Amino acid sequence: MDPAVWIEGSLEFAIAEAAGGDCPPLLAGALRHSVFPGGARLRPRLCLSVAMACGKGDREAALAAATAIEIIHCASLVHDDLPCFDDAPTRRGRPSVQAEYGPALAVLAGDALIVLAFETLARRLASRPQALARLVTIVGRAAGAPHGITAGQAFESEPAIDTALYHRAKTGALFAAASEAGAAACGAPSTPWRHLGAYLGEAYQVADDIRDAAGDENELGKPVGIDVKLGRPNAVRDVGIPDAIRRLDELVEAAVESVPLCPGRERMHELIRHEASRFLPEKLARRAA
Ligand code: IPE
Ligand code: IPE
Ligand code: MG
Ligand code: MG
Repeated sequence: MDPAVWIEGSLEFAIAEAAGGDCPPLLAGALRHSVFPGGARLRPRLCLSVAMACGKGDREAALAAATAIEIIHCASLVHDDLPCFDDAPTRRGRPSVQAEYGPALAVLAGDALIVLAFETLARRLASRPQALARLVTIVGRAAGAPHGITAGQAFESEPAIDTALYHRAKTGALFAAASEAGAAACGAPSTPWRHLGAYLGEAYQVADDIRDAAGDENELGKPVGIDVKLGRPNAVRDVGIPDAIRRLDELVEAAVESVPLCPGRERMHELIRHEASRFLPEKLARRAA
């Protein structure tokens, strides 16, 4: 079966738990709106690809981790769109959760999703406490402080910020967790796989900065020009579009090079190049030339 189908089914199962029973109907609606329909599901697909590349191990654990990571990602977008962060009216081509349900429910939906991610790991891996402990540690590190999304978003409140550090925390950390978790779910050492996700995540945020500066709102399904409007540190402001595209290409190559020795190494190289080739719309990718 296609991994994309496993991911949707697994997310559906997890959200049905949180949004079921006596869940207040508006919160239930906001939870579903946060997760479905999804975006590219890049992080859970990365997690499952690494698990497959490691060549053995526990598909259930890999899917639980992939699901938890995508749920955290969706929560981070819901909070990121709040008036106190980017105040975005749209996401994935439709109203953002805060625009549709209001900021109070968007705060609560994000909170409930973060909790649900860890609950999902605990429920699904209750009989495998060692795998559970490793995966909770990996996912927790990526979500919180000092290295994770919370820290990344908090840099925006500091007077001076290093762009790479900000990118690594707000975006790189969860990609790093996805690649580490894929390996850990297979019982493989996870630290060597951290670099792949970290490079890829940083590359993805550089691409997002380029899209924010020069992309098309309708094509992206979210507002553009936010970085300039809100004075966010970003790769385009630092070095301009052509050099930002070069930086993106370097980071993708670093990701390819970082893949540890494993049975599926060649396939992993192809996958990274293929995924990264879609980070920018074609007309923007040509602007490095
Ligand atoms: C958006 O991530 C936030 C960034 C890190 C740039 P994605 O572009 O992966 O969002 P979806 O899930 O596909 O909508
Ligand atoms: C979002 O960064 C990263 C998160 C941790 C949510 P951005 O604010 O640049 O992402 P978009 O452009 O809203 O998707
Ligand atoms: Mg933001
Ligand atoms: Mg934003």
